[in-house]
Amino acid sequence: MDLETIIQTRRSVRIFSDKPLEKEQLESLGLAAIWAPTGGNAQPWYFIIITGKGTIKVIKTLSPGLLGNPQAVIAVLADKQYNVRKMGQVGETLALMDCSMAAQNIMLRAWDLGIGSCAVRSFNQKALQEILEIPEHISVELLITLGYPGHEPAPPPRRESVIQWDRFHGET
Ligand SMILES: Cc1cc2nc3c(=O)[nH]c(=O)nc-3n(C[C@H](O)[C@H](O)[C@H](O)COP(=O)(O)O)c2cc1C
Repeated sequence: MDLETIIQTRRSVRIFSDKPLEKEQLESLGLAAIWAPTGGNAQPWYFIIITGKGTIKVIKTLSPGLLGNPQAVIAVLADKQYNVRKMGQVGETLALMDCSMAAQNIMLRAWDLGIGSCAVRSFNQKALQEILEIPEHISVELLITLGYPGHEPAPPPRRESVIQWDRFHGET
């Protein structure tokens, strides 16, 4: 698939097949993450690749937004404190932006490999930190569920009118 096709045909997948993912595929997703742009090259992020069925089951119980039974989950973590120490208050926002860019890289590379994904923000932060042994000052910003798609989601509509030229042409 060319990049434009990957971008436009990636869908949030919420039903996964039982087919396992290869370790090399998950390693490739990790690399996609760390090569995302990052403000000041600070890289205030961590990526925990979770494949244990038991752990995924527990994560599911702690995450109302996590649908289906993924073969793997990548937890995207931010160390906002580190970024704030490095570059002041703006570091907090930049850390979130960095994590978002890394997450997008993961999801697009996944789809490039035929793997479906879904970003999940609805989870219990404290409980996840506990079971993944994450220190208090490092937060989980996003979970990315992964697995071969067990369905073909219809593309949700997008508003092309938000693409505007030269100046703001009004809300749509
Ligand atoms: C920051 C963020 C948080 C999201 N959280 C959830 C979630 O908790 N559960 C879920 O099923 N989908 C979640 N999604 C997926 C969106 O619902 C989905 O991207 C949107 O409906 C557009 O569909 P598409 O990804 O197929 O283009 C999230 C997406 C983003 C970017």
